[in-house]
Amino acid sequence: MQLISSQMTGYMEQGSWIRKMFEEGIKLKKEFGEDAVCDFSLGNPDLPPPAIIKETLAELADQADQPFFLGYMPNFGYPAVRERLAEEVSKEQGVDVPADCLVITCGAAGALNSFFRAVLGPGDEVLSPAPFFVEYGFYAENHGAKLVTVPSKPLTFELDLDAIDAAITDNTRVVLINSPNNPTGAVYTRKELEGLAAILTKHNEGRDKPIYILSDEPYRFLAFDGVEVPSLLDIYTYSVVCSSFSKNLSMAGGRVGYALINPAIEGKETLMGAVIMSNRILGFVNAPALAQKLLAKALGSSVDISIYDDRRKAMASVLDNAGFEYTMPKGAFYFFPKAPGGDDVKFCATLQKEKILAVPGSGFGCPGYFRLAFCVGENVIMRAKDGFVRAMKNAS
Ligand SMILES: Cc1ncc(COP(=O)(O)O)c(C=O)c1O
Repeated sequence: MQLISSQMTGYMEQGSWIRKMFEEGIKLKKEFGEDAVCDFSLGNPDLPPPAIIKETLAELADQADQPFFLGYMPNFGYPAVRERLAEEVSKEQGVDVPADCLVITCGAAGALNSFFRAVLGPGDEVLSPAPFFVEYGFYAENHGAKLVTVPSKPLTFELDLDAIDAAITDNTRVVLINSPNNPTGAVYTRKELEGLAAILTKHNEGRDKPIYILSDEPYRFLAFDGVEVPSLLDIYTYSVVCSSFSKNLSMAGGRVGYALINPAIEGKETLMGAVIMSNRILGFVNAPALAQKLLAKALGSSVDISIYDDRRKAMASVLDNAGFEYTMPKGAFYFFPKAPGGDDVKFCATLQKEKILAVPGSGFGCPGYFRLAFCVGENVIMRAKDGFVRAMKNAS
C-alpha cells in the first residue's frame, strides 16, 4: 500500500541539510555533552523576547475568562491589531500603508503560501536568486508552480541582474527576493532593486498578468552599520512584502506575520481578497489569537540587536584568524563563507569532527560555501576558534 503521495515520498527521501545537521548535533551533544558542541546550524533566535511580551501575557491572563478571548475572528486578523500594524509598517517602509492592504498571517511562511495560492497556477514559475531559503521550492510546488533559481554574484551575493533578465520566461509570475538574506547576510541596495524593477517593467509590457516581486523581509530589522534596507513599495508597483515577528521579537513559535500588498497596485482589493481567502482555505483560518494580542502591545519593540552585532564581530574575528574567505554580512544572523577545498559537504564533515556544526551551501542551492548561524552566545563562537583553525589546516 502506498500511504503517501509520490511527491511527498521524494521530499522525505531528499531530506534537508539543516535537519541532517540538527540530528547530527543531537548525537554529538549526547556523546560529548552540550557544552562541547558549537552548533551554528540553526537560525532559531535564542535571545529572549522583549520584556513587553511577559508583561502583556500577565495582563492577558486577567482577560482569559471572557467569551471569545481566543475565538474566531476575521480571516485577515483582529481589526485593531491590523490598524496598529499599519502604523508600524508605514514607518518601516516609509510609505503610507492603509490597514486594508495587510493580512495578518501565520508567520512569513504563512504569508508566502497565502500569496502564492492567490497568484500561482500549474506551470507558473517563481524565480529566486540563489542561494535561497530552502523552503521556497516546497512553497512554490505547494501551488503547482516551480522554483527557478539564478546564481547571485560569487562571494558578494549581489543580484546578477543580467542573469535574472535572461531567466525570465512567459511563465514567470513572481520574483522572490529576501533581503537581508538568509543564508548570505546580503542586503540589496536601492540601485540593485531599481535595476530589477526596470527589468520586470520591460517584461511586463504586453502581458496580461504582471510579474510580482515578493519581498521576504523577516530580517528587515537586523541590518548592521546603518546600512539602508530599501523599501520596494515606491520602487516597483507590483510588489508585495511578507514578513513576521519570528526574529525581531523572538516569537518564531508564536506564528505571526503579515502580507502587505502595495497600496499602489490598481485593483489591489481583488488581490487582497484573494490573499485573505487563501489564508482561510489553506487551513490557517487566521493567525493565532494570542500571538496577535501580544503583537498589539509589542509592535515597535525589538530584541537587542547590538547583541547580534557583537556576535557578528566575534564570528568575523574567528573566521579571519583561521583564514576563511567571506563577505561580512550586512544583515540577518548568518555568515556564508567559502568552503576551503571547494567541497562544502566534505568541509562540513571536517568541521563536524571538530564538533562544529554548519550547513553546506548545497542545501541552499549554492555549493562551495557553508552557512553559520550566530543564534548562539559569544562564548560558543569563541570556543570554536581553534576548531576552525584545525579544520582549515585539514582542508588545505
Ligand atoms: C528567509 C526566510 N523566510 C521566511 C522564513 C519563515 O519565517 P516564519 O517563521 O516567520 O514563518 C524564514 C525563517 O527562518 C526565513 O529565514
